[in-house]
Amino acid sequence: MANIKFFLGEEIPLEMHKVRMVQRLDLVPIERRLAAIEEAGNNTFLLYNKDIYLDMLTDSGVNAMSDQQTASMLVVDDSYAGSATFTRLNDKINEIFGKKYFLPVHQGRACENLLSQYFVKKGTYVPMNYHFTTTKAHIMINGGEVLELLMPEAVKPTSSEPFKGNLNLDELQELIATAGAEKIAFIRIEAGTNLIGGQPVALDNFIEAGKIANKHKIPFIIDASLLADNLHFIKTREEKYKNHSIREITEILSKTADVIYFSARKLGHVRGGGIITNDETIYKNLLEMLPLYEGFSTYGGMSVREMEAMTIGLDETMDEEMINQGPIFIKFMVEELVKLGVPVITPPGGLGAHLNAMEFLSHIPQEQYRAGALGSALYIASGVRGMERGTISEEREADGSDHLAAIELLRLALPRRVFTLSQIKYTIDRIAWLYENRKLIGGLEFYEEPKVLRFFFGKLRPTSDWQQKLVAKFKADFGDSL
Ligand SMILES: Cc1ncc(COP(=O)(O)O)c(C=O)c1O
Repeated sequence: MANIKFFLGEEIPLEMHKVRMVQRLDLVPIERRLAAIEEAGNNTFLLYNKDIYLDMLTDSGVNAMSDQQTASMLVVDDSYAGSATFTRLNDKINEIFGKKYFLPVHQGRACENLLSQYFVKKGTYVPMNYHFTTTKAHIMINGGEVLELLMPEAVKPTSSEPFKGNLNLDELQELIATAGAEKIAFIRIEAGTNLIGGQPVALDNFIEAGKIANKHKIPFIIDASLLADNLHFIKTREEKYKNHSIREITEILSKTADVIYFSARKLGHVRGGGIITNDETIYKNLLEMLPLYEGFSTYGGMSVREMEAMTIGLDETMDEEMINQGPIFIKFMVEELVKLGVPVITPPGGLGAHLNAMEFLSHIPQEQYRAGALGSALYIASGVRGMERGTISEEREADGSDHLAAIELLRLALPRRVFTLSQIKYTIDRIAWLYENRKLIGGLEFYEEPKVLRFFFGKLRPTSDWQQKLVAKFKADFGDSL
């Protein structure tokens, strides 16, 4: 996105790409949207694409690829072992991250499986800035405990703190002093902290955390799935690094960690993932597990086409003009919503705009899943699919009680270079209508609840006929408009 001033004074994001391949979309009538959300058990994961107008569920595996990436997929070296496609990817990763070893896997959570199996022992702790759903589940399955060491601003919905994702280093030191370094399986920092609104981590925070880990000989692991947004925020919000290139920032960041892992469904705009390290012992141990869970060391469950496109995608990630598209579009959306008085997480982060359902639906008891109810209501009102990131996304406590989330978010992910500004404006319009009519929205309750990661397949029903009332109000206000 370029810094371009408009003669007429308008301030809008201006894309530095053009669209050369399109996919047809339909907006089905509101009666069908109501039926579809009922069939999906009020779980937006269970909706089908045919019923969705704008899919803001996630940015995972659905970012637009560049022409260069698509072209690269035609020239691949397809072999089980030792393909030149893998060598090209391996070399690119060495070049960007300055680390020797790369273990390919089929997606981000596969890294978490291997790393948790290797590092986490029963009774150990894994301190981190904030958990991600699959990360936490893997650590727990292996007998570890996740400890979130947040900064006080992290879960404040509105803030001007530029790096709400920072790890609380004082609490980390305290934990090491009280629990002992040997009880800590590893320290984890997640770049672009997903579940608290795509909030970034300062480069200095990575550096200081790395020093503490190193001093106590505790492995330091970075989840780099959302690194692209975080790199943009370091460059634009951390004064000290504003004159550093994205490559230089990545190099400094990479040096702080023993292990970097990522979902390439996000980083690199393809479908895959990988673990990067300079540590031969870690590499060799993980390598032994790789064929069992993923595949041979030169494909790890990925197709060669995805690997070839990942090589280009990672290289393009080093271009500020490319990685700033997401954060700048998100900033536009968040700032427009703020102007309308809609509760939304600030400052704008990466990944998407995050509606603060805790406040939006403050009249609903938190036990009736405010963020889930908002996701359901927004789909009915607009055909836009978001993702619940609140209590439904938590695991139940050992005693079976609900773990009420610190924040209730409806995440509206903006896959990079996918939506147009008019589509963003449509979404803002329908959110504004919903906010005006928020008292019509009621709660949800589970009628089918899986034991692990219940947000994927769980089914819920409304606690009253609020959805019918919402549809009636929509018809009264919008007439025969879709
Ligand atoms: C920060 C973070 N870590 C890990 C993952 C898991 O990656 P994947 O979905 O590729 O398994 C995600 C996915 O959204 C993520 O955002």
